[in-house]
Amino acid sequence: SRTQVAIVGAGPAGLMLSHLLHLRGIESVVLEARSREDIEATIRAGVLEQNTVDLMVETGVGDRLKAEGYEHHGVEFRFGGRGHRIAFDELVGRAVTVYPQHEVNKDLIARRLADGGDIRFGVSDVQVHDHLTDRPYLTYTDPQGNPQRLDARLVAGCDGSRTSTRGLIPEPQIRTDHFRQYPFAWLGILAEAPRSSEELIYARHERGFALVSTRTADVQRHYLQVDPDDDIANWSDDRIWSELHARVDGEGAEIKDGRIFEKSILQFRSFVCEPMQHGNLFLAGDAAHTVPPTGAKGLNLAVADVFVLARSMDEYLARGDRARLDGYTEEVLPRVWRAQHFSWWMSSMLHTHPGNSPFDNKRQDAELDAVTRSVAGRTLIAEQYTGWPLV
Ligand code: DHB
Repeated sequence: SRTQVAIVGAGPAGLMLSHLLHLRGIESVVLEARSREDIEATIRAGVLEQNTVDLMVETGVGDRLKAEGYEHHGVEFRFGGRGHRIAFDELVGRAVTVYPQHEVNKDLIARRLADGGDIRFGVSDVQVHDHLTDRPYLTYTDPQGNPQRLDARLVAGCDGSRTSTRGLIPEPQIRTDHFRQYPFAWLGILAEAPRSSEELIYARHERGFALVSTRTADVQRHYLQVDPDDDIANWSDDRIWSELHARVDGEGAEIKDGRIFEKSILQFRSFVCEPMQHGNLFLAGDAAHTVPPTGAKGLNLAVADVFVLARSMDEYLARGDRARLDGYTEEVLPRVWRAQHFSWWMSSMLHTHPGNSPFDNKRQDAELDAVTRSVAGRTLIAEQYTGWPLV
């Protein structure tokens, strides 16, 4: 078969790109290795920037988000046993919305299918060919085991951090040294419990960082800093709750226990692939860059990438003007790097660094104190957390 844009990956980046292209009258086909059920159920991120919310609402996929998401007008930084609020509304007049990534996927999939979109789930062996020519094509195996071919004019690699499309950008051109690891990881839980707090709490404690988040009135999402080599088998439910209490409880905050029904360990990495283009192949979202989770920038950055990519593809496909398409990397990288800095900063400022000297620990306490007591400091956090406007 033939289409204008072949998209590899049906996560937020690929689905939103397909949706935005459709609104511009451009056809696309999305190929996805996983099943629809899997994509609609896998627990991932949960915080949408104001930009992401506005884009979803403006493009007609925001109804359920508006009805079921929770708008948050601030977050709390907790240290020294006390909370310090970053008031997004007062500081920058913006907000974030807690709405899980798999719900975003559901809304985008439903809308693409209602609009006659073509998403092919459960495919395997996806390979991109001739992306340096203006007749690229993909080969893949369909769920019945039959080999297939998809011809396109442009190809988008939206296949996440375990991307295969990134590998098509050859060594001399691609920078692979924009990479950083961290001496910590997160143990994330989902629990049937009442909300512990009206707003998210980012808690720095000598026992390690803790994050109090939420999903719904009855389902809570919390995280604990753990060693990257730790094993989930070491973490009984009792140990998790007692550690959450130890790190978070204090003046004005108390963790509310419940039944844990999901727990796993997430690794921390920072990575930027540069360039994000090779011929007629364009990378977006985690295929191009990874941020550590603190500050919840990953999904939002993916949406910001495809917002630019859709417009640039349109200028080329509708008017033959390649300037913006070939400037894609340069156009999106400054935001990618700002998000890298923010995610690194939030991670560094709030976590316990194994092996830190007493001086470094005090310096870190002073950094949080300086940032939270200054209106300028809180405003910088609020601007970055709620996100830089897309245009
Ligand atoms: C969540 C994840 C984050 O990385 C974050 O900074 C805030 C919230 C979450 O999954 O709810």
